[in-house]
Amino acid sequence: MRSRTTSSLLLAAGGLLLGSVPLAVAEWPQGVPLDDFITAERDIALQGVLANIGPNGTKVPGAGAGFVIASPSRTSPPYFYTWTRDAALTLKTLVDDFIFGNTALRPYIDDYIHSQAILQTVTNPSGALLPNGGGLGEPKFNPDGSRYNGNWGRPQRDGPPLRAVAMIAYSNWLIENGELERVNKTIWPVIANDLSYVGQYWYVPSPFPPKGHNDANSGASRNSTGFDLWEEVSGSSFFTTHAQYRSLVEGAELAQALGQPCIACAQAPQVLCFLDSAYWNGEYFTGNINGNFNRDGVDANVMLASIAGFDINASCDSPSLQPCHSRMLSNFKVFVDTFRNPSLYPINSQFPSTSGIALGRYPEDIYYTGNPWYLITTGAAEFLYDAVARWSKQGFITVDDTSLAFFTDLYPDAEAKTYKKCSKTGPFRQILDAVTAYADSFVSVVQQYTPSDGSLAEQFLKTAPGSPTSASDLTWSYAAFVGMTHRREGHFPPSWAQSVTPAPETCSPGSTAGIYAPATAAGAPNVTIGCTSTVLFVVNASTYYGENIYLSGNSSDLGKWYLDSAMPMQSSNYTDARPMWFAQIPLTAGETVTYKYAREQDCGQPWIWETVNRTLEVPACVEGSTEVLLETDDAFVGERGSSGAC
Ligand SMILES: *[C@@H]1O[C@H](CO)[C@@H](O)[C@H](O)[C@H]1NC(C)=O
Ligand SMILES: *[C@@H]1O[C@H](CO)[C@@H](O)[C@H](O)[C@H]1NC(C)=O
Ligand SMILES: *[C@@H]1O[C@H](CO)[C@@H](O)[C@H](O)[C@H]1NC(C)=O
Ligand SMILES: *[C@@H]1O[C@H](CO)[C@@H](O)[C@H](O)[C@H]1NC(C)=O
Ligand SMILES: *[C@@H]1O[C@H](CO)[C@@H](O)[C@H](O)[C@H]1NC(C)=O
Ligand SMILES: *[C@@H]1O[C@H](CO)[C@@H](O)[C@H](O)[C@H]1NC(C)=O
Ligand SMILES: *[C@@H]1O[C@H](CO)[C@@H](O)[C@H](O)[C@H]1NC(C)=O
Ligand SMILES: *[C@@H]1O[C@H](CO)[C@@H](O)[C@H](O)[C@H]1NC(C)=O
Ligand SMILES: *[C@@H]1O[C@H](CO)[C@@H](O)[C@H](O)[C@H]1NC(C)=O
Repeated sequence: MRSRTTSSLLLAAGGLLLGSVPLAVAEWPQGVPLDDFITAERDIALQGVLANIGPNGTKVPGAGAGFVIASPSRTSPPYFYTWTRDAALTLKTLVDDFIFGNTALRPYIDDYIHSQAILQTVTNPSGALLPNGGGLGEPKFNPDGSRYNGNWGRPQRDGPPLRAVAMIAYSNWLIENGELERVNKTIWPVIANDLSYVGQYWYVPSPFPPKGHNDANSGASRNSTGFDLWEEVSGSSFFTTHAQYRSLVEGAELAQALGQPCIACAQAPQVLCFLDSAYWNGEYFTGNINGNFNRDGVDANVMLASIAGFDINASCDSPSLQPCHSRMLSNFKVFVDTFRNPSLYPINSQFPSTSGIALGRYPEDIYYTGNPWYLITTGAAEFLYDAVARWSKQGFITVDDTSLAFFTDLYPDAEAKTYKKCSKTGPFRQILDAVTAYADSFVSVVQQYTPSDGSLAEQFLKTAPGSPTSASDLTWSYAAFVGMTHRREGHFPPSWAQSVTPAPETCSPGSTAGIYAPATAAGAPNVTIGCTSTVLFVVNASTYYGENIYLSGNSSDLGKWYLDSAMPMQSSNYTDARPMWFAQIPLTAGETVTYKYAREQDCGQPWIWETVNRTLEVPACVEGSTEVLLETDDAFVGERGSSGAC
């Protein structure tokens, strides 16, 4: 529950975190000046991030060292896992904060590198590190770094490039500070695996013909990038492609500094070609393409990609698509205006059309009824601060036909021309001031819906009173807040995009064979190519509609008897005559496993386990083969399920 005016809570929050908060102000957050809110909330947010990182994070007992947990929430929704994407974005913010002078963060960064070196070697439902890197695309793991076996939108291909970007930022700092050797021996091997993965899988042509209207812009067959950052649709996501591009550009520079090869990095111009040609529709960047989504494609992922790639030294027309790029400004306006619709977000009807509003992921969103997100509303402010910072630095603003509508909202006299900095009160200054005020107004919205203890959940309700909802203490919400304050304070992450050149005129997408090896110097176990044999588990089990069958066993690939990690089975061949459930699973060759099936009942009723333990000997493997080498013929032993009729 949100409680806005309890001054004892205010004192608890402020007193806990920093002495300089003006505690005399009783109505925090509502009545507090924006600057004071930001100062106080920045510290709360940073502590909020650290409280969710193992092994010492106070809100995540049991999390392994360096693992960033998405949220302490274990149920409704279950976010007590580590996501590779969320963790990497969070670490990038911590690395930035470290570079800006917060030296206390160093142990967190070192733990992270160690944890990720190990994680890369954990075989999981997306595959393994060896021989082809498939396992690097796994989106989430248990808090101790063990595999998660449940059904999920996998693979997600933004994790490896974002992780590389976070580690490259730290590596560049280490090199500048005389620790090149450590980077070369210890961190580069982790980064190199991720870059290999990007080069190999950024573009996976699909043999399937296009279906449905959203494929209109995608030609003859679908290019697939995997599941998007919201874990809902499989296709190509702007966010993922942008992250992939950046990682290869920066990867190439680091490789050169180290004298290491980066074969994958040669794909960078092709990734840019795809980014440049495939998503822009003349008015905005379509957030997801190459799939049937029944969406207009207006999606926060574009704005989030641009702020993640902000470079104060890159020009507004840089192919790296900075926030001040005309297309990004146009996209921003379309995105924000979409959420001004009061029937979509009733709470936004209180804000004038020139003010910031509450923003969500995309207008068709129904997750938790589709509400505004803190990290996206904060991200809008960051986007605008970034643009202002660049215009200030370069001393001019070029308005063109593409960006004109963005500017006229804030500066009605705007025309398509270049405004130069010439006086303290001229149009250039007026535009900067208007955009800055616009940025601040998004932070004010966040302030209005932040509870008085400063905690940031994932979402806040789209209807009054806008209470926090979904996961509590979302690490990404906190990290986004800290990142926004960096830009507002004029702290800019190191430059990466100065050397980028325009995309080639014709795209010829490809793939480079990845080279993968466990990063043993960083602490990874020295895994070798796993010899696995595929077993087809088939069980006859009569079920009612709403009941599911899982497979559980004593080996780690079968979840070690943990229900959370049991293997979901498929019912696509189920008939009354043959009530078949099946799952095709690669298992460690030569191993003996004990296993059994379990029924998941509906309406929150308890699971029903089989009353027998079964054993099976996994056959010897045939190298490189994924053929089924053994098929079971089982029939469920135990009670039948019964519908709870809820
Ligand atoms: C966690 O606590 C241990 C024991 O106090 C300490 O050695 C370690 O540095 C801490 N880790 C981090 C990331 O602060
Ligand atoms: C980095 O290590 C590689 C061997 O892995 C070596 O060839 C290279 O010279 C090293 N780079 C530097 C700058 O020392
Ligand atoms: C796939 O991407 C390439 C490179 O950008 C593009 O030329 C082609 O039209 C795309 N095809 C599909 C089906 O999206
Ligand atoms: C921008 O470029 C200048 C000149 O090359 C450099 O000194 C500065 O460090 C760069 N800024 C960032 C944030 O990297
Ligand atoms: C890892 O194992 C491989 C193959 O068994 C071996 O060649 C290599 O030396 C080992 N590396 C380390 C760091 O132990
Ligand atoms: C699983 O059970 C089998 C049969 O009891 C046993 O041989 C095997 O070692 C067990 N595996 C694990 C990982 O405990
Ligand atoms: C399920 O049915 C399809 C289509 O008939 C068939 O190709 C497939 O082999 C079946 N799967 C199993 C596990 O029997
Ligand atoms: C039989 O299965 C249960 C899980 O249902 C497990 O806890 C137990 O250890 C298994 N027993 C043997 C002998 O494998
Ligand atoms: C499963 O059902 C099929 C089809 O009715 C039958 O042929 C098979 O023997 C059954 N398996 C077991 C273990 O009962």
